[in-house]
Amino acid sequence: MFEGGRIREEQKSRINTEDTESTEGAEKRLGTMTKTIEELIPEYLRGLPVYVPGRPIEEVERELKIHAVKLASNENPLGPSPKAMEAARAVLGDSHRYPDGGTLRLREKVAAMHGVSPEEIFVALGSSELIDLASRVLLRQGLEGITSEGSYAPFSIAIRASGAKLVLVPQLRFAFDLQAIAKAITPRTGVIYLANPNNPTGTAFTGDEFREFVESVPDGVLVVLDEAYIHYAASMGLRDSVEAYRRRKNLLILRTFSKVYGLAGLRIGYAIGRPELLSAMNKLKTPFNTSGVAQAAALASLDDKEHVRRCIETNAAERKRLCEGLAKLGLRPVPSETNFVFLPVGPGAKAISDDLLHLGVIVRPLGWMGFPEAIRISVGTAQENDKLFEALGRVLAKRKGKPELTPR
Ligand SMILES: Cc1ncc(COP(=O)(O)O)c(C=O)c1O
Repeated sequence: MFEGGRIREEQKSRINTEDTESTEGAEKRLGTMTKTIEELIPEYLRGLPVYVPGRPIEEVERELKIHAVKLASNENPLGPSPKAMEAARAVLGDSHRYPDGGTLRLREKVAAMHGVSPEEIFVALGSSELIDLASRVLLRQGLEGITSEGSYAPFSIAIRASGAKLVLVPQLRFAFDLQAIAKAITPRTGVIYLANPNNPTGTAFTGDEFREFVESVPDGVLVVLDEAYIHYAASMGLRDSVEAYRRRKNLLILRTFSKVYGLAGLRIGYAIGRPELLSAMNKLKTPFNTSGVAQAAALASLDDKEHVRRCIETNAAERKRLCEGLAKLGLRPVPSETNFVFLPVGPGAKAISDDLLHLGVIVRPLGWMGFPEAIRISVGTAQENDKLFEALGRVLAKRKGKPELTPR
């Protein structure tokens, strides 16, 4: 029997045994006979927005009959390490077996890399699953979760999906305002989400700023620090947050294989956190969440330090060229610590993105993330970035004389 029916039967029998009211009367009082499945979904879930992913390249190419480049989802344009691909191919033949649900080898390797124990590592379906699990474990109706305006949308979605109240703190110059976030903490606060560097603005706070912030957060509030882009942030020490974690119990650090390791399509990431918290998250995750192929590729990608170095260096060089090229077109990108650039372009942001799309360059308009006058451009290969310059030059030339669409 479907779920709604079962609820009704349980409610009826409880009422019949608790008082003498007739079944018909009970049903009327509860109103369950007239409730649709949609109405049974809690109010706080019904109002949730859907996460909007960047458009797949094949879809755009088929629709517009053009060859396109995708600079919309902050992927690694150099792809996975050849060693990761080889390792993935080698285990494909075991796909009839369930993977190691405890992800032991990967946890051991990652733990050794960070100087923590395997019990302090939790492997999941990318950082996305970790973001969701943190709220599911610690938040509920009556509590509050804090994040910043202009940050990664799944933070807000996870808080709201738990039934807790979402507290959004305004940004300061496109960056997290850590002092204002500390002031927003109340006795009801359960979780705070930070992304460093931030998506979509590309800005980062320093290790010192972060240390000062976590020292001010009460022990009973979990700070989730999402470091999806940390490898690209020259000004942030890679080990800074792990050192802060050793001193503070209430920190959960999220890392992903989707960015510098180039494995976004395989869906794998991990958290560093206290075993008590991780074992609660473990109870809520789906069994066998990460595939054997993803685990093998992730393991091998950690060994290919040369590939990681090449990805970081290429990104830094192309990011510089991208920002200089945009400046030559009269635009002012926000200085970036990531593999993408946040670009204020004025009220024509959506129209500019659409025009670029028709010229075969997919970028991300940011209206849905709270920046209706900006677009986000992922750093591509040299050829992809050249295609963007050419297309954007044409789009802006066409807009000359239309003040409402002129970049400012
Ligand atoms: C800040 C941030 N966190 C997490 C993710 C998602 O990572 P994953 O692919 O590991 O789920 C992204 C993806 O763009 C991101 O920007």
